[in-house]
Amino acid sequence: MALLFFLILAFCTGPGLLESSSRVRLVGGRHRCEGRVEVERDGQWGTVCDDGWDKKDVEVVCRELGCGAATGTPSGTLYKPLAEKEQKILIQEVSCGGMESKLIHCDQVEDVFDCSHKEDAGAMCKIPVSVRLVGGPGRCKGRVEVKYQEQWGTVCKAGWNLSAAKVVCRQLGCGRAILTQRSCNKDTQGEGPIWLSEVSCSGQEGSLEDCPTGLWGKNNCTHDEDTWVECEDPFDLRLVGGDTHCSGRLEVLHKGEWGSVCDDGWGEKEEKVVCKQLGCGESILLSAKARRNFGLGSGRIWLDDVHCSGKEQSLEQCRHRFWGYHNCNHKEDVAMICLEKTPKT
Ligand SMILES: *[C@@H]1O[C@H](CO)[C@@H](O)[C@H](O)[C@H]1NC(C)=O
Ligand SMILES: *[C@@H]1O[C@H](CO)[C@@H](O)[C@H](O)[C@H]1NC(C)=O
Repeated sequence: MALLFFLILAFCTGPGLLESSSRVRLVGGRHRCEGRVEVERDGQWGTVCDDGWDKKDVEVVCRELGCGAATGTPSGTLYKPLAEKEQKILIQEVSCGGMESKLIHCDQVEDVFDCSHKEDAGAMCKIPVSVRLVGGPGRCKGRVEVKYQEQWGTVCKAGWNLSAAKVVCRQLGCGRAILTQRSCNKDTQGEGPIWLSEVSCSGQEGSLEDCPTGLWGKNNCTHDEDTWVECEDPFDLRLVGGDTHCSGRLEVLHKGEWGSVCDDGWGEKEEKVVCKQLGCGESILLSAKARRNFGLGSGRIWLDDVHCSGKEQSLEQCRHRFWGYHNCNHKEDVAMICLEKTPKT
């Protein structure tokens, strides 16, 4: 028994040890996510021969380095300085399935029998772009900043348009991009590096890293040209005054303010959407009297004449009067009870 345990332990820790001593890096590219592939063995960095080198292999390298999507499989002498003659070629051939988390997990032919540095494998990956909006009210409005080499910097508005703003709003989980004439002024412009310029997005991209841009840190912009973006605040909803998050008076968040929903035209389909959105079970119909038990709202009445098909993922997608327009008072506030979801047994 003890022997068996030892064998299992040895089996589990063996590859782990190997793994921690194997590293990969990219050298000679325009940024840390591009360059000649080098792997470390016994404290020495060597290159990889490009036999069979393809997109799947590059995908694994990008993943291992915490970079974005693979965009190219360059090989040869593209990335200078060239590996020195005495630098070893450590791997003849790599063959990844594409889903591996590290290059070392891929099939490799380690005995190098026929290769020169003219065949060094390279990788091009996108730089993962962290983005934030600074200096505005809330996290969904402000000066656009992106992070590069652990430092936040601004984005020049040359080439920027509403489609790019849309991508930023989507990436931040904010609402829709608002067309605004506002731009950065002396009070709201940034300082430090101006990382990007000529950002051109079609508007369909999920993240800024998918948009073509100028080279990082290479532009002739000044901070007077810093980009400013405004997105709608994220929509949200909640039930208040009940015992659980699945019952109470309905409130929706719009423009950063919680308000109630009028019950004109409100019914089963609308409740279905709300219960689903809150992760609760079926709704149960309440009498007008029972609804009052949750108290009356006091702030804005945001929505009226809401009509859903029942298939919407969010109440925001249902038809309704323009935000804030209604002919109601708080005695008509929607209140409801959804059953709690019972875990399936
Ligand atoms: C913004 O620019 C991009 C690239 O030049 C273009 O594809 C897109 O249609 C433009 N969007 C708007 C709203 O003008
Ligand atoms: C910046 O300006 C210089 C001089 O006018 C020019 O040579 C260079 O190409 C410009 N760089 C960019 C990235 O536009």
